[in-house]
Amino acid sequence: MLEPKIKQVEATLLAYKQEHVLKVLRQLPQAAKEKLAAQVEQIDFETLFKSIDKYTRLPVSIKEPIKPISFEDWEDYEEREQAAYTERGWELLRAGRIGAIVVAGGQGSRLGHDGPKGTLDIGLPSRKSLFQLQAERLLYLSGKAGKAIPWYIMTSPDNHEATAAFFRSAAYFGYSAKDCFFFQQNTMPALGLNGKLLLSAEGTVQLAPSGNGECFAALKRSGAIADMKERGLEWLFYYNVDNALIKVADPAFIGVAALHNNPIATKVIEKTDAEEKIGIFCLKNGRPAVLEYTEIPDDIKAERTKDGRLFYNLGHISIHLFKLDFIEEHADAALPYHVATKKMNVWDEGGRLIKPAEPNAYKLERFIFDFFPLASQLTVLKARRQEEFAPIKNKTGEDSPQSARKLVMELHRRWLQAAGIPRDELNGDFEISPLLSYGGEGLREEEWTGSLKFGTSE
Ligand code: UTP
Repeated sequence: MLEPKIKQVEATLLAYKQEHVLKVLRQLPQAAKEKLAAQVEQIDFETLFKSIDKYTRLPVSIKEPIKPISFEDWEDYEEREQAAYTERGWELLRAGRIGAIVVAGGQGSRLGHDGPKGTLDIGLPSRKSLFQLQAERLLYLSGKAGKAIPWYIMTSPDNHEATAAFFRSAAYFGYSAKDCFFFQQNTMPALGLNGKLLLSAEGTVQLAPSGNGECFAALKRSGAIADMKERGLEWLFYYNVDNALIKVADPAFIGVAALHNNPIATKVIEKTDAEEKIGIFCLKNGRPAVLEYTEIPDDIKAERTKDGRLFYNLGHISIHLFKLDFIEEHADAALPYHVATKKMNVWDEGGRLIKPAEPNAYKLERFIFDFFPLASQLTVLKARRQEEFAPIKNKTGEDSPQSARKLVMELHRRWLQAAGIPRDELNGDFEISPLLSYGGEGLREEEWTGSLKFGTSE
């Protein structure tokens, strides 16, 4: 980098009160100096500080009018309607029109698992990882449909290699390697709570993955959209890596999305506790929207109907179907950044690593649901929480590997009961392989004669 350019970078650092970076920059050997200067040159300080400023101006207030959004409940459909939706979903699976996208680029800072979140074993009897559970659900469907379901796996620069290596070492869990497409998302600089850029021990700006809303841009940049078009896909099933009950590429949901034919369909669950850490669906300014749980104003959060239910009770659980042409059209949309305080490892001036006990940094993230207002209409389908949602966010307690394990095993126990297994034979832990059953089907004695109990753990 030429000297005038370095001078320009120095001026920018001064203008945005990043003197600590300037000091490091001046001390670094030439190659490292150029690397740091090139990083700084890329930073959009205006957006960074504007986003943080908005975040710190509490309490949250939403100026746009908020209204409830309409939805349909799977339970309210007649049996023949459910069958028709499900059959439409299978038709699309058989025709090879469906792909799946897992967003697995997060840092999982609350969980603190050593490695990508998808590699986590939540302690099921089979000891399968989240990625394996998902792969097997997809394999079950593609086996029945007679058509592969291409799987797009979003990683971040932090966990890309580890994720790809995990898949390789597990022989892709029986998936075909050519149907697994790994792609990397964007990053943004992390800032300390004092507004200063965080630097690594080597004198580079610390970057953090900038949210699941980076997904469409990353799909485009990586060539995944071109791959999808070549394969003739129409719908992409989008989900979080950290839901142990995810019904990946659920045929019933695909059918509902396809027959309603809006650019986006989403599955929701009823939110019953105002403090539960999930966002809510609504219409904001007449457009479909989600208010993230950290951003719901208190009056909206606590509002209840006469019968005691939350007025805004359609909980966002990050299960969506996007039409491929919608993704392509909006891949370059300039979504806003949301700010959160998170724990980030930092290095002191002597180069020593400090692992913070409390959140110490601002992270900027784009959220997938900020694409929703870009769609004129959204299909909202209410599903049953206990069949769909077992999030893993924390090390212990609620939304932890332990709570998710319990939810998976409770569901599988109910499947076995529904299949006619007497209660007194259901002692201990039970887990049904996703290769055997997708939603509890195929477990009746007349359908299945092998042993269903294949592992116990205390
Ligand atoms: P979360 O918002 O729960 O973040 O992600 P996280 O990184 O998993 O955990 P914390 O907040 O640091 O504790 C919801 C989903 O979005 C993905 C995550 O991998 C998860 O599947 N995600 C999140 C990304 O793919 N990229 C990101 O930059 C952030």
